[in-house]
Amino acid sequence: MTSEPVRLGVAGLGRAFMLMLPSFRADPRVCLVAAAAPREESRRAFEAEFGGRGHASVDDLAADPEVEAIYIATPHQMHAEHVAAAARHGKHILVDKPLAVSLEDADAMVEAAGAAGVHLIVGPSHSFDAPVALAREMISRREFGAVRMVQAFNYTDFLYRPRRPEELRTEEGGGVLFSQGIHQIDIVRLLCGGRATQITAMTGAWDPTRPTEGAYAALMRFADGAFATLTYSGYAHFDSDIWMGDVAELGGEKSPEGYGRARRALEGLDAEAEAKLKTTRTYGAGAEPAKASHHEHFGPILVLCDRADLRLTPDGVEVFGDTERRFVAAPLGAVPRETVLDALVKAVREDRAPAQTGRWGRASLEVCHAILRSAETGAAVDLTRQCGTNQEEEHA
Ligand SMILES: NC(=O)c1ccc[n+]([C@@H]2O[C@H](COP(=O)([O-])OP(=O)(O)OC[C@H]3O[C@@H](n4cnc5c(N)ncnc54)[C@H](O)[C@@H]3O)[C@@H](O)[C@H]2O)c1
Repeated sequence: MTSEPVRLGVAGLGRAFMLMLPSFRADPRVCLVAAAAPREESRRAFEAEFGGRGHASVDDLAADPEVEAIYIATPHQMHAEHVAAAARHGKHILVDKPLAVSLEDADAMVEAAGAAGVHLIVGPSHSFDAPVALAREMISRREFGAVRMVQAFNYTDFLYRPRRPEELRTEEGGGVLFSQGIHQIDIVRLLCGGRATQITAMTGAWDPTRPTEGAYAALMRFADGAFATLTYSGYAHFDSDIWMGDVAELGGEKSPEGYGRARRALEGLDAEAEAKLKTTRTYGAGAEPAKASHHEHFGPILVLCDRADLRLTPDGVEVFGDTERRFVAAPLGAVPRETVLDALVKAVREDRAPAQTGRWGRASLEVCHAILRSAETGAAVDLTRQCGTNQEEEHA
C-alpha cells in the first residue's frame, strides 16, 4: 500500500463542498489537486487556495491525469452525467448523496462504475457519523442479540433553507425525501443490516409556497423481521435538536436565539433572490462551518435489540441493558467526517469498499421512491434493489 495522499478532484464548489472543506484541509491522506466549477471566481478561489487546476467542465476534470478520484458535489440531477464522466476516465468516485434522482440513472451509474472497475462510494451521508458506526459495530458483534425495531425522528428547518428552484420540485429531486430522507434511510438500513423488503408511508406537502414534500412518516420492514419507523418534518417549527442536547446537525452547539432564523431570512425574497442567497453559502463566498465539539447527527435514533436498547447521541451510544445503563463514547478525532475520508482512502489505496457503495446508495434511493409511491397509492410497496452491508456479498 502506498502512503501517498489520494489526489482528489472536486466537481462542484457549492454548499456541499463547503461542508467537506474542513475535512479536506485537516486530513493529510487526501490532497485536492483540481476542481470543476462553472463560475470563474470559484475556480480562481480554488486555485489560489490549493494551487491545483480549475476546469470549466467535469469532463475536463475527469480527463486530468493528476486526478485519481473525484468528489462529485454537483446538484443531484447532474450526478449521473458526472459519475459517467469519472468512470469513463477510470477515476474512483465519491458522490454526495443522493446517488441520483431516478432509479434508471442509479442503475446506469452502478453499471458504469462496475464496468470501469472503479470504486463508487455514496457519501458523505449521516450513515458515516461515528456514533452510527459505533452502534453498527456493537450490533455486528451481536452483543445485545438481534435488532428488533428502530425509531428515527428528525424535525428541522430544511424546507426554509435557501434553495435553487428545482430543490422545491419533487420530480427533479426536490423536497425532503431525496435530500434528507436519504440520510435517515441510510442510517436505518445500516443499523438493520440493509435489506429492507417493504415500505408503507405517508407524506405531507403543506406549504403551497414550497410545493414539495416537507414531511413524511414511513414504516419499513426488513428481511430478518426487524422493522423501523422513520419520521421527518422540515417545516421549521419544532426542532428535535433539543432532544439531542441542543447539538445541531453539524455537531456545533445550537443557540435558542437562532429560532425562526431560516424563515426570517426568506421573508420578501422571490425565487431568484433566494437562489442567489444560496450562493452566498458556497465556496469563496460564504462562512465555513464552525469547528464542532460533537459528532454530526441526524436526529434522535433508538435501536431496540433483544437484550438492550441503544440511544444514539452526538457523542456516542447510550446502552440501556437488562440490569445496567452505560454510555460508550465515540471519540472525536482531529478530522471532521474522518469516516468518509477513511472510506475513500481505503477504496483507492487498499481496494476495500465501505458499506455505502453505489449499490447501497441505489437501495436507499429505492426507499425514497417507495415512500413517495406508497403515499400516493395508499398501498405497501415491495422493494427489489436492496443489498446488505457485507462487502463479499456486495461483490458477488
Ligand atoms: N452530505 C451533505 O451534508 C450535503 C449537504 C449539502 C448538499 N449535499 C449534496 O450535494 C449536492 C450539491 O448540493 P449543494 O447544496 O451543495 O448545491 P449548491 O448549489 O450549493 O452547489 C452545487 C455546485 O455545483 C456547481 N455546478 C453546477 N453545474 C456544474 C457543472 N456542470 N460542473 C461543475 N459544477 C457545477 C454549482 O456552480 C454549485 O457551486 C446535492 O446532491 C446535495 O444533496 C450534501
